[in-house]
Amino acid sequence: MSDTMQAVDFRSIRFPNRFALAPMTRTSAGADGTPNALMADHYERYAQGGFGLVITEGTYTDDKASQGYANQPGIINDSHVEGWKTIIDRVHAAGSRIFVQLMHAGAQFQANRYTDQPLGPSEVAPKGAPLGLYGDQQTWRVPSTMNDSDIQTVIDGFARSAANAKAAGFDGIEIHGANGYLLNQFLSTYFNRRNDNYGGTLENRLHLVVDVVRAVRKAVGDDYPVGIRLSQGTVTDPDYQLPEGAAGFRQIVEAVRDAGADFVHTTDGDVHRQHFVSGDESLASVAATVEGIDLIVNGGIEETNHQDIANRFPGTLLAVGKKALANPDFVQRLKDGKEIAELDFQMLLPKATITNELAWREQNGS
Ligand SMILES: Cc1cc2nc3c(=O)[nH]c(=O)nc-3n(C[C@H](O)[C@H](O)[C@H](O)COP(=O)(O)O)c2cc1C
Repeated sequence: MSDTMQAVDFRSIRFPNRFALAPMTRTSAGADGTPNALMADHYERYAQGGFGLVITEGTYTDDKASQGYANQPGIINDSHVEGWKTIIDRVHAAGSRIFVQLMHAGAQFQANRYTDQPLGPSEVAPKGAPLGLYGDQQTWRVPSTMNDSDIQTVIDGFARSAANAKAAGFDGIEIHGANGYLLNQFLSTYFNRRNDNYGGTLENRLHLVVDVVRAVRKAVGDDYPVGIRLSQGTVTDPDYQLPEGAAGFRQIVEAVRDAGADFVHTTDGDVHRQHFVSGDESLASVAATVEGIDLIVNGGIEETNHQDIANRFPGTLLAVGKKALANPDFVQRLKDGKEIAELDFQMLLPKATITNELAWREQNGS
């Protein structure tokens, strides 16, 4: 049995193996954001399929401007918490742990049941077009610039949602600081054109991220796993680079650690992608050298390279996205030496809903 199948200690948790399900939006909750039975079956499949950790899809954090997609789950009221409890119980019964990903969409906003007006660091819409997988919107709306009160609402929403997550029974929290959503927008010089103390220097651009990590830590106490997912690129601009390069990324990882994060979760098209403005580091290689913080790595992990990545980044968890979608039992298949399928994107069309996936599986006998 390979090393990736051996137990790993990650803060207070012993995971049975190194594999985590990467967070993946499925826009399958009720219209009011309540997680449902379809989602419970869905997440249970990955736990039964051997993933030691399941990370949920991005989950919204307040009843203002945080929701980004129709039928996205939330974690802001009793109905949401009850829905998640069922999912958590099913994942636990299958022997896995589950972290919730807390997400504020910011400018990357397609649908929201509470408001029509996105908020962002500045009046800058994302590049490219909205994601057809998540809705029919053809163009991005231009966000309004967040004022101090909007920023406080964001921080309070993350903190309350974190407390809700702990009360629901989640094993930990991943804050979404990647892929072009709000916290990533504040870090980005494309989205963040502010000249107050939330914009300009990297230290200022980190301000909201640090405030959110601190507030979440305070809401859940010291002995509860809290981390943050980080990327340079966004879903519609995967090649964006921080002007401060690898040194800037190191500064970000150190800042979130000092604010109370236990782990960072790096995500790029490929774990090893060397994409800083200069040098030959990857997000993962920089984060791995920062003391005092654990690491989840993501990007292109599959049956052919998992062991090499595990060896290169000892003690980390390996988050798997597309290969897991194609093979909910990816880990069990590896153990059994069974064939691993490629993802057929038809499975996610016309929308990335669980219902469409199940219809595709029925049709394809998979
Ligand atoms: C359908 C789909 C939905 C996704 N939704 C999210 C999400 O909610 N939060 C997030 O951080 N990343 C999301 N991602 C990105 C994945 O977590 C992962 O980073 C990406 O697929 C690259 O990893 P892979 O090469 O293993 O697929 C999504 C990816 C896909 C394919």
